[in-house]
Amino acid sequence: MRVLVIGSGGREHALAWKIAQSPLVDALFVAPGNGGTEGLATNLNIDITDHAAVIAAAREHAIDFVVVGPDAQVVAGLGDDVRAAGITCFCPSKEAGQLEGSKSFTKALCDQFDIPTAAYGRFEDEASALAYLYTQGAPIVIKADGLAAGKGVTVAMTVDEAIAAIDDCFDGSFGEAGASVVVEAFLEGEEASFFCLCDGKTALPFGTAQDHKRVGDGDTGPNTGGMGAYSPAPVLDEATLSRTISEIIEPTLRGMAEMGAPFTGVLYAGLMLTKDGPKLIEYNVRFGDPECQVLMMRLKEDLLLLLNAAVDGQLAHMSARWRNETALTVVLAAKGYPASPEKGTTIRGVDEAGTDDNVEIFHAGTALRNGALVANGGRVLNVTALGGSVTEAQKNAYRAVDLIDWPEGFCRRDIGWRAVEREG
Ligand code: AMP
Ligand code: GLY
Repeated sequence: MRVLVIGSGGREHALAWKIAQSPLVDALFVAPGNGGTEGLATNLNIDITDHAAVIAAAREHAIDFVVVGPDAQVVAGLGDDVRAAGITCFCPSKEAGQLEGSKSFTKALCDQFDIPTAAYGRFEDEASALAYLYTQGAPIVIKADGLAAGKGVTVAMTVDEAIAAIDDCFDGSFGEAGASVVVEAFLEGEEASFFCLCDGKTALPFGTAQDHKRVGDGDTGPNTGGMGAYSPAPVLDEATLSRTISEIIEPTLRGMAEMGAPFTGVLYAGLMLTKDGPKLIEYNVRFGDPECQVLMMRLKEDLLLLLNAAVDGQLAHMSARWRNETALTVVLAAKGYPASPEKGTTIRGVDEAGTDDNVEIFHAGTALRNGALVANGGRVLNVTALGGSVTEAQKNAYRAVDLIDWPEGFCRRDIGWRAVEREG
């Protein structure tokens, strides 16, 4: 099989790394890829927002199977266009992608199918959003309705903060994404992520993880795409997972199918574990980044076989086995991230850091320039390690981090802290 992975992040490096291990692969391409995928696959330097360019490249390289990584491409309907060109594609339809692309779509689905989530109101003008806010008070959560690159959500601890966030949305700070606003109740609890591989009817549980969204140690500073993650997340114990599947995941798949938009792809549920049970915060319709990196470290199956089974509607006949160890990944980012990361600086020592069998280094914003590895984005490397516990995986990951010589980079030093504290 000739496979093309779409994307250029750590997630796509991890997917390509895992797919490359499949005996089904004859040739592997990544578009546009990064400095890490370059050794593993052939990078295709194309504009992935241009669907015609993706299809032309797939034809030129006789691709039989396309795997779409990033949310923006899923939500833009790249999967539908690739399929219409007669090429098999692992990517939800544009219609099903609304689960991530439109918060009000998901909220309406939750209402209709009784899926536990925060109470909310949706508003298209500022006056009614404010009126609702005054009836609810703070803490409260304000969300731009559409995709806003993870930046459209404000958890407001005071009414003044909430007013400012509502102002921002209607001022056009988030463009089209802010034209309507969801105002929802603040949920109290611990957050965790649950992934399922879906084929329209069946959800195959595909691992749990905890991400670290804030840029600074102790969960401080601005939100980022994610500064580190580990899997499994022990807070999602068996009883909670089984409630999540029956109360949240199964009704979602049923509802999407009934609506004529069956969901095929990776369903990533962002959950709040409240005292009343798991509640849905949001859905994503693709692997998480950096959560994918830790899932791929633990997966003991042929990923390509499973992705094909999902596309063929055959997941009811499949299972997934996982390594018992914990995998933990630390993101190295360029100084200035998330606001204005510095580009073009040289990174040394990555090969040495990755020599341990328990360590893999997945690249994100890197490029090779005259044989040297340089930073080419905000999040740059994902140093990923296995260990017998979260504490041990954390130790192994930071040992490898410390072998990397990159003065212009930084990382959090506390990835996994919640679980480490519990293990302590
Ligand atoms: P989202 O983009 O919907 O995942 O929101 C980003 C982050 O905001 C989440 O990861 C949570 O930490 C927080 N958040 C979102 N909705 C709520 C809520 N209803 N209650 C508490 N925190 C929330
Ligand atoms: N790490 C969060 C995400 O991929 O959405």
